[in-house]
Amino acid sequence: MSKTVTVRDNDSGKSVELPVLVGSLGPGCIDIKQLPAALGNFTYDSGFAATAACKSAITYIDGNEGTLLYRGYPIDQLASSASFLEVAYLLLEGELPNKEQLAAFEYEVAHHTMVHESVRTFMDGFNYDSHPMAMMCGVVGSLSGFYHDALNMKDPKQRRLAAIRLIAKMPTVAAGCYRHSIGWPVTYPKNKLDYCSRLLNMMFSVPAESYEVDPVAARALNLLFILHADHEQNASTSTVRLVGSTGANPYACVSAGIAALWGPAHGGANEAVLKMLDEIGSVENVPKFIDRAKDKDDPFRLMGFGHRVYKNHDPRASIIREMCHEVLEKLGVEDPRLDLAMALEKIALEDEYFVKRKLYPNVDFYSGIIYKALGIPTNMFTVMFAIARTVGWVAHWLEQHVTEDARIGRPRQIYTGPTLRDYVPIDKR
Ligand code: SDX
Repeated sequence: MSKTVTVRDNDSGKSVELPVLVGSLGPGCIDIKQLPAALGNFTYDSGFAATAACKSAITYIDGNEGTLLYRGYPIDQLASSASFLEVAYLLLEGELPNKEQLAAFEYEVAHHTMVHESVRTFMDGFNYDSHPMAMMCGVVGSLSGFYHDALNMKDPKQRRLAAIRLIAKMPTVAAGCYRHSIGWPVTYPKNKLDYCSRLLNMMFSVPAESYEVDPVAARALNLLFILHADHEQNASTSTVRLVGSTGANPYACVSAGIAALWGPAHGGANEAVLKMLDEIGSVENVPKFIDRAKDKDDPFRLMGFGHRVYKNHDPRASIIREMCHEVLEKLGVEDPRLDLAMALEKIALEDEYFVKRKLYPNVDFYSGIIYKALGIPTNMFTVMFAIARTVGWVAHWLEQHVTEDARIGRPRQIYTGPTLRDYVPIDKR
């Protein structure tokens, strides 16, 4: 017996019975499509805090329990046992690959890592000090210009090829942005390396001497990429889906996702956390900044804290916090910011303001400390996030093309502007 709710307009006395749609996990969702015709109303939900925009089988989050599942597998199990491309396969195909499937997938991704040489000259057009995320938005969007032979969005083979091309080429473009910013020549991808080692090699190999990727660094990046790969209908994934719903090509969709991720309220927070920690400077200054974060008249917020969905610990933040100690120790890196971040977390979580609002560290709070220890500059942190999240973006983009009731996204509004009025000629104004 399917569940329903009745919505009643108390003024008119009219009511309508609405179905409650239930997925495999999580709360039911009231299907409101009959509401306008039945009662003449829309619904209002600023920021879509209580609104399901689509059906999806990719990732499940329980914000109260601090649960994060990729295709049903707990994030901590994947983080401790899988490779990033193994997780990428899982998110795209829905099942963990066997050895042959993983080897074939790794080979396929490795053989799409190159970009057209014109991409390099395109990058040269940017100032050396352009923010890498500005470059990523432009360059990734431009990739569609090189693949117009395979942009028929109705062809599943071409959709999958575009998804593989994006996963494969994001590290190449990202490393190119970094090398442009330091005035070094690009390093071409080495197909014999694994995904994370290949990126680190493209970023840090020195043209004048041989370079060996540190396996500790590659493992740390592998784990960070798994934790950042997908996160249900976050702002950037919702952006990719909205752009994808118009039939736009996947390079344009991912470029829009990169732009959305760049915001400091979203993926740009990892860069903002490092700047905040440097501004705080020492543990003695923490109480002053906590007060500022609580002051409604002060725009300062505790970056890396709070989450729309998690009202318990972000499981990714807990894993990264543990990882910080291990990676810094293995790399022999001392970073006072780690102690400062932990002191900040402790003080904040003992403060009524944060406890009452269930504000905990999120995925961005500690990740920058590890990126720093790997030698990645602060302005590349969100680029790292974008590389990993490209897997989630393209998985959702592929999914929306095979979902029956997928339609072009077109929300409504509460109009608050002037009511009807006539034009006044300029000499009468
Ligand atoms: C990511 O959606 C995802 O899944 C995103 C992500 C992913 O993997 O894709 O998890 C990645 O984007 C993580 C979030 C990174 N952003 C930051 O760390 C920036 C700092 N955090 C905040 O800006 C904020 O917490 C958000 C944006 C993350 C969530 O904002 P919400 O859900 O709109 O919450 P809100 O702004 O309504 O805050 C509720 C209350 C408010 O106070 P009151 O009006 O109730 O008095 O909490 C306060 C806010 O002022 N608050 C904070 C705060 N975050 C919320 N106060 C101080 N510092 C903060 N960080």
